[in-house]
Amino acid sequence: MRSRAVIIGTGSALPSRVMTNRDLEALVDTSDEWIRTRTGILERRIASEGENNSDLATRAALNALEMAGVKPDEIDLIIVATLTPDMPMPSVACLVQKNIGAFRAGVLDISVTCSGFIYGLSIADKFIQADRKLKILVIGSEVLSRRVNWQDRTTCVLFGDGAGAAVLAGTREDRGILSTHLHGDGRLWELLAIRGLGTAVPADEEMLSRGWQYIQMQGKDVFKHAVKALEAVTWEAMDAVGWKTDALDMVFCHQANMRILDFVRERLGLSEDKLFINIHKYGNTSAASIPIALDEANRGGRLFAGANVLMMAFGGGFTWGSLAMRW
Ligand code: COA
Repeated sequence: MRSRAVIIGTGSALPSRVMTNRDLEALVDTSDEWIRTRTGILERRIASEGENNSDLATRAALNALEMAGVKPDEIDLIIVATLTPDMPMPSVACLVQKNIGAFRAGVLDISVTCSGFIYGLSIADKFIQADRKLKILVIGSEVLSRRVNWQDRTTCVLFGDGAGAAVLAGTREDRGILSTHLHGDGRLWELLAIRGLGTAVPADEEMLSRGWQYIQMQGKDVFKHAVKALEAVTWEAMDAVGWKTDALDMVFCHQANMRILDFVRERLGLSEDKLFINIHKYGNTSAASIPIALDEANRGGRLFAGANVLMMAFGGGFTWGSLAMRW
């Protein structure tokens, strides 16, 4: 049998500062009722001053390593999925490597927005299929609160900060990652973007006055594309491994909006207990959303050996993807 990649430890880290919908009522013209009914979000976590992406990523990584019983110097590759790195150079993966002392590891940041953790797992899977002895740390980590315009009610109510991580190793057993499907469509980039702070646009007064340092989104259009892509990529994964809905034990969909999650659950015909939900506590944490959910489910005893697990995500770019695995 070929080698498969299995997750042998998970971890997460969330800032201690909680921002409730009521807190947002003091900042913008919104209401707890509007946010709850349109998004399902009740509160989100916000990084404190001086608390950076790499700090959250490091805490999540250490938690995952501890659960896996793997020492930092056993890690061969660190992949960090993020759209909010501490700085353009070095990567968050480099900073995590330094913080945890994983000096044998290669270091790689990937920029795939909310689908980043699935892309990261997929890359790790390919490495481990080629060499069963590798141990790979995949992290999704975001400090979106620093890329949100706190005067724009159409976006600031949606996002939050946090990090999640998984340690992957190889096995010859009949479990682990069974299939991955990755997609993108760059033609639609303008519907969800941070246009400034890269090298294309000067960081000047004009850029700041346009709000291009912040996330800008055409929410309704994004919603329509998200549900269509998520449904298609879900069935793509199910068909690839030959699963029908009743084969699923736990589903982790990117926590972007409760209405998107309800849509996915209805289209799959899935019972409520099988779709993991934590959007009410953390909002949309982009690349961190699935690994935080995975860690909560794992530590909460909701995953068992042999469980059929499906993950799917959609995000800016656009990017989307799915992953099927036997736990
Ligand atoms: N509080 C109160 N009112 C708000 C508001 C807020 N936070 N944000 C928007 N509104 C207003 C709008 O201004 C609009 O008012 P108008 O009718 O007077 O113009 C009204 O509410 C409806 O806005 P609309 O954008 O049509 O709401 P919606 O039902 O589409 O919900 C989103 C908005 C953002 C929740 C929804 O479009 C969505 O979830 N989109 C997908 C977002 C997403 O998941 N992005 C990330 C993908 S990874």
